[in-house]
Parts: sequence; C-alpha cells; structure tokens
Amino acid sequence: MAVRTKIIGTGMYVPDRVVTNDDLAKLMDTSDEWIQQRSGISTRRFVDGETPADLAFEASKRALASAELDADDMELILLATLSPEHDFPGTSFFLQRRLGLEDTPCVDLRAQCSGFLYALSTADAFIRSGQYRRVLVVGCEVHSTGLEFTDRGRAVSVLFGDGAGALVLEANEDEKDSSGILQTRLHAQGEHAEKLWTEAPGSALSPRLTQAIIDEGRIFPRMEGRFVFKHAVTRMPEVLLATLNAASLKLDDVDLFLFHQANLRINEYVAQQLGIPAEKCLNNIQKYGNCSAASLPMLLAEANETGLLEAGKIVTLTAFGSGFSWASAVVRW
Ligand code: UT7
Repeated sequence: MAVRTKIIGTGMYVPDRVVTNDDLAKLMDTSDEWIQQRSGISTRRFVDGETPADLAFEASKRALASAELDADDMELILLATLSPEHDFPGTSFFLQRRLGLEDTPCVDLRAQCSGFLYALSTADAFIRSGQYRRVLVVGCEVHSTGLEFTDRGRAVSVLFGDGAGALVLEANEDEKDSSGILQTRLHAQGEHAEKLWTEAPGSALSPRLTQAIIDEGRIFPRMEGRFVFKHAVTRMPEVLLATLNAASLKLDDVDLFLFHQANLRINEYVAQQLGIPAEKCLNNIQKYGNCSAASLPMLLAEANETGLLEAGKIVTLTAFGSGFSWASAVVRW
C-alpha cells in the first residue's frame, strides 16, 4: 500500500486577552452591530506581550500531547504565517528553539490565509515521498500588532485576531487503516496581489521604511473588501468540488466542512450555494475573528476536542485569501 499521511494530533492556542467589538468602537468609528452584521465576529483575542512563536509553542505542545509524542519525534517543522516574528529568520526557527530542538529543519511558508493548506499539502508530499515520517505543521498569526486602529483602518482592523493551531502528521503504512489525507489542491493568482496586501516595509522599497510610508498608512493591511468577497465565494466552492472529485467523493459523503474563517457571511453563502446543511459546518470566527493561517488548524483542533471527528469521518478544509491564494484538502479521520 502506498504511504498515506495521517493526522495524529491537533492543538490550538489563543492569548487570554478578549477584545470585544465595543472595545474597538472606543478607538474608531465602528459598532458592534456593523461588525456582527457584516462579518459575524463578536470578539477576538489579542496578545499582551506574547510573540507569534509563543502562541505557536503552546499550540504545538497541545498537538504533541494529543499525539502522545515529544517534540524531538518531529523530523520537520512547517509553519505558515503572514505575520512573522521578525523579517528573518522565520518564526519556525524561534518555535524550534522554544521546543528545545537542536537541528530539526524548519520552514516558514507564506500563502496568507491559504498558508495552512499549503503547509499541509507540502508536509503530505514530504511524508508520501518517504523523506520524513513525522512532521509538525503550524499556522500562527499575531495580527494585532500590525493593524491600524483608527477610522482609516477600520474596514480591516475589526476583522482580525491572534492565534495558533498545530497538527502532528505521521506516515500511515497500515494496509487496514484507510485514514489520512486523501487529496489536496492548491491554487494562486498573483494578478490580484494588491487587492489584499501590506505594502511596507518591503525590499521592493528603498529605503524599506520611512516616516512618510508610516504616515501614509502603507505599513497596514489594505483590502478591496467586495472584490475579495466575490472571489472567495467563487473559488472556495470550485476548489472544494475539484478536490472531492479527485478523491472520488461527493458533497454528501462529507461529515464536516471546515472553511477559512474570514467572514461568517462568506461561509454561509458558500454553504447555501452548495446545499450544505448548517449542522455540517463548524465556525469559530464569532469568538476569534480571522486568524489567517491559524484559522483552519484552530478549527480542526476545536472539532477534535469536541468529539466531532470520530474514526472514518470525512472532513474537508477549504481556504481563500491574499495572493490571491485558494486551496482545499479532504481527509478521512
Ligand atoms: O482572509 C482573507 C480573505 N478576506 C476576505 O475574504 C474578506 C472579504 N470581504 C469581506 O468580508 C467584506 O467585504 C467586509 C466584511 C470586509 C466588508 O463588508 P462590505 O459589506 O463589503 O462593506 P464595504 O466594504 O462595502 O463597506 C460598506 C460601508 C462603507 O461605507 P459607505 O461607503 O457605504 O458609506 C464603509 O466605509 O461600511 C463602511 N465601513 C464600516 N462601518 C463601520 C467599513 N468598515 C467599517 C467598520 N465599521 N469597521
């Protein structure tokens, strides 16, 4: 039997500090009503001194505990983020140090809100090729230190939160065990790179950062919300159906649909378009906001902790985000 990649541990972590919509309304012209109506978000978590690697460390510890393995059982760390600890080295290196590892290889992957699925798919390829047997895959974001909490930034800053999620993956060579990642599909369209982006600081600029760049707000994320929304509700169903088709499965075969947590309205619209019943979808954006690359592993960890993922269940993970990037994965639990 060909090697299949099995998810044997999940974990998530969010910082303690809860920030409500009313808290944000004290800083800018917005309201609880607007935020809930447009996005479904009630609260998000913000760090209070913690770094991305701190969040990633806590999520990884939990994933390792749930897999009943130690950090030094991991042969590779893949970490997806759009909010790195520093310009370089990657956040995965700071995580590796926190985990007490000496020479485990580390890679940061950058595919924004689809980053976790890009990392999962890459880890799957490494495992199926035989190069590694156990991989730690992490999605981790600290958005709150890079948002503009003013009227100018309100269209973006109310949407995002901080958090981390992690999975432990292992090669499954047991012929009687059909669980594991069945298919993944990745897509990108750089044509729309500037529709959702943070321009500066960046090495395309010389110097990379000036007072004028800061004053013009080019250090903060900018988004053409409606344009992004339209693409998200088209690309997510498209890639989900293609990935299911590649796995010879139908929508009805799926027990749990997990979509990236950018906007509850996007996910409701997609589910409605595909005729997916609400009880087959899990969302946590109401509590945590959009945690970009961390959203899907956080959601998967919650699903696992609440007992939604019994052996044999089919679960799909689907994302859309900046780049543009979009992706899907189908897993038999
Ligand atoms: O994670 C990566 C992928 N991201 C996404 O998929 C996000 C996709 N886009 C969206 O989810 C939605 O476009 C948003 C939630 C970002 C915005 O919702 P919208 O219904 O598209 O609103 P809009 O941007 O068209 O703005 C409507 C109005 C505007 O005022 P006018 O021009 O109608 O007077 C905005 O200025 O709402 C105003 N507005 C706000 N009002 C109160 C924008 N942000 C806010 C705010 N509070 N925070």
